[in-house]
Amino acid sequence: MLRGDSENRLVRTFRPRRRKLGPELSKVYERLMDEWSIAEHGPTLDLIEVFGNDNQVCLEIGCGRGDLAASFGPSHQDTNLIAIDIHTRGIANILQGIENHSLSNTRVVEGDVLVLLKRFADASLSDVWVFFPDPWPKPREQRRRLLRPDVVQELARVLKVGGVLRLATDIEDYWRKSITVVAENESFDIPEFSRPDWRIETVFERRGISEGRQPVDICWVRKGDQPT
Ligand SMILES: C[S@@+](CC[C@H](N)C(=O)[O-])C[C@H]1O[C@@H](n2cnc3c(N)ncnc32)[C@H](O)[C@@H]1O
Repeated sequence: MLRGDSENRLVRTFRPRRRKLGPELSKVYERLMDEWSIAEHGPTLDLIEVFGNDNQVCLEIGCGRGDLAASFGPSHQDTNLIAIDIHTRGIANILQGIENHSLSNTRVVEGDVLVLLKRFADASLSDVWVFFPDPWPKPREQRRRLLRPDVVQELARVLKVGGVLRLATDIEDYWRKSITVVAENESFDIPEFSRPDWRIETVFERRGISEGRQPVDICWVRKGDQPT
C-alpha cells in the first residue's frame, strides 16, 4: 500500500511545473498522444493487449526529457517500454521518436507513477528504471524520494521474479539509503554496481558531472516468491 499524508493523498515525489510546449511539439502531442499513451488511472493493464505481443516490458520512471526512451526503443525492438513523467515536454519528445522511427514497442504515460503502479498486475514487469530521481536532499523532504519503503514494496509486487530494479544517481546519500531501503524489503538480491551499456548520458547526468558529482548505477534482482 502506497503511503499517503494525513489527508490520504499520495506523498508526492515531484515538484509540479507547468511549461508550455512550443508550436511544433504541441502538434506532435495532439497528433500522437491518443494512439501511443496509456492513462495513469484505470483498470489493471493487459500488457499483451497494449503491445500486441508478450515481449518483456520495462518501465522508466521519471523519463525527464525523454532522451533515453527515444534511443532505447529503436535499438531494442524485441522489448517493450513504458516511459512515464508528469512533465509534458519529455512525453512529446518520445512521441516524436515513436513517429520518426515507426516504433511499436514504446508507450508513454503523462502522470504520477504512484498512481500508475496500481494498474500493473503482480509480476508483470521485467525491469523498472529510476534514473536520476529528484534528490530531495533536505532531511524533512526525504520522505518524497521515489525509493522509499512503500514504493519499493509496490515495485517488488509488479516485478517478475528475476526482474531487475535499476537506480542511477549522483547523490551519494540517495544511493546509500536506497541500498538500506531495498535490503529491508527482503524481496531483492544483494545490489550489484553496474551500468547498462544502453543507458545513455542525459543532460541531467552531464550537469552533475560538470559540477563534480559521479554517477553510480545499482541494480537489484527480484528474488523469491511474489508478496501476497
Ligand atoms: C531529475 S529528473 C531526471 C530525468 C531523467 N531520468 C534523466 O536522467 O535525465 C527526475 C524526473 O522524475 C520525474 N518524476 C518524479 N516523480 C515522479 C512520479 N511520481 N511520476 C512520474 N515522474 C516523476 C520528474 O518529473 C523529473 O522529470
